[in-house]
Amino acid sequence: MSRLIVVSNRVAPITEGEPTAGGLAAGVLDALKQQGGIWFGWSGEVSDDTAAPAHLERSAGPITLYTIDLSRRDYDGFYRGFANGTLWPTLHYQVGHAQFDWDDFDAYRRVNALFAQALARVVRPDDMIWAHDYHLLCLADNLRRLGLRNRIGLFLHTPFPAPPLFMTIPAHAELIQAMCQFDLLGFQTDDDRTSFADYIRRQAGGVEMDAGVLSAFGRTVKTGVYPIGVHVEEVRHLAAAPSHHRYAARLHDSLLGQPLILSVDRLDYSKGLRLRFIAFERFLEEFPQHQRNVVFMQIAPPSRGDIEAYREIRRELEAVAGRINGRFAEVDWTPLRYLNRGFARSALMPLYAEARVGLVTPLRDGMNLVAKEYVAAQDPNDPGVLVLSQFAGAARELEAALVVNPYDQVGVAAALDRALAMQQGERCERHAAMLGVMRRNSLDAWRDRFETDLRGGVNLQRGMAEAEACSQPPETVVPSTLPLYDPQP
Ligand code: ADP
Ligand code: F6P
Repeated sequence: MSRLIVVSNRVAPITEGEPTAGGLAAGVLDALKQQGGIWFGWSGEVSDDTAAPAHLERSAGPITLYTIDLSRRDYDGFYRGFANGTLWPTLHYQVGHAQFDWDDFDAYRRVNALFAQALARVVRPDDMIWAHDYHLLCLADNLRRLGLRNRIGLFLHTPFPAPPLFMTIPAHAELIQAMCQFDLLGFQTDDDRTSFADYIRRQAGGVEMDAGVLSAFGRTVKTGVYPIGVHVEEVRHLAAAPSHHRYAARLHDSLLGQPLILSVDRLDYSKGLRLRFIAFERFLEEFPQHQRNVVFMQIAPPSRGDIEAYREIRRELEAVAGRINGRFAEVDWTPLRYLNRGFARSALMPLYAEARVGLVTPLRDGMNLVAKEYVAAQDPNDPGVLVLSQFAGAARELEAALVVNPYDQVGVAAALDRALAMQQGERCERHAAMLGVMRRNSLDAWRDRFETDLRGGVNLQRGMAEAEACSQPPETVVPSTLPLYDPQP
């Protein structure tokens, strides 16, 4: 039986009871718990020993975790530089925050090569390799150069933007060519998959066959849409378990019967927090009847704090939050509670359940699991209302939310008023519709569909034969003036 090897930059604690670190980690952990396997990634440590081999960190049940350290130079160039200073903003359509430096891109190549070399030491010929996210776009290319012929898939947790946006990255052509070395590329939504296919057709001289099979650079790659989900029952169980309600009880008591609007995000400019705060301010102006009668709580643990754009958004939010409270607070009422801290999942889910409105307004998001967790945590007989950005991947599935444009403050303010006034019947109807979709597109379904397709369940071979028959001669899109891959970095 072939083993599943998962590769991601960030790995989660694999011991039962420890909190996981975000949506990616929760999904991966679940995939591995079911059937066992290896999880490979960065240890989170920055070390000066650049020659450090992959080391076995620990095993828990069926999961074995291998990690490598990064040198300071690689951490700066790869993680802070190209992955989070160039790719992250560009993939989220926030090109104003993007910067590019060829030295950072060199570090990105180097770390992808380092991951591949360390991984090659533990991979067996029939293992299946599932890579995750934008940190590892060049992983398969490096593994192929080392002679590995395993099935290798990539799931992109972020959006994939329209080609003109992606092409603002000077190394775009090299990245796309490297991505075509995977056997399967998974995207969150059809928009993301289509954007990638558009690039292949229009910029790379490639061809799209049936069933999402693309041919370019003499390679055939299957593409598909796999919206990541949540464990509905697990979230509901955590949300409803009385033993987890310490924080929720304190919150409940402090509200004095006022309805709660809740937002939960990593402190990231893509999450739209600044415009959200301004929309809340607008809501208090336009609908003064809610003054003293509602509380908005924003939970936002700091993230990537050693990158300037993240420090800047933090400063901006502190200023806007201060202004709103200074302007509207009363001796016995504070409209906005702004918390820069994380909570264990068991504490967070009951907080969702307390909220009459879940306000999720990213400027762009691959999926946004907070939106799904909020819905799953609600009492089906008296649920809260989800106000959701049209630019979150989740909006493709959760059509029964109140869908808003996060750039339209008047629209968001009106949606908040409508959500707070919504009758129980309509709330139940909308909630049931969203829950139905989420049960179909569960975390299990996400994992199973991706794994089946990677194992070849959708006849990759047939797609490949068709591709060879009708493919155009591969065009080189990497201009000769650009640095090419070092075959043996
Ligand atoms: P992203 O992956 O960009 O951070 P998602 O909304 O898809 O965004 O996933 C975020 C995950 O991190 C969710 O599972 C959510 O429960 C968790 N999370 C976000 N904020 C907090 C917080 N303050 N405390 C604990 N968990 C959090
Ligand atoms: O998809 C969002 C993501 O990059 C995940 O990979 C990760 O769990 C989360 O954000 C936290 O980011 P970082 O690993 O940079 O701390």
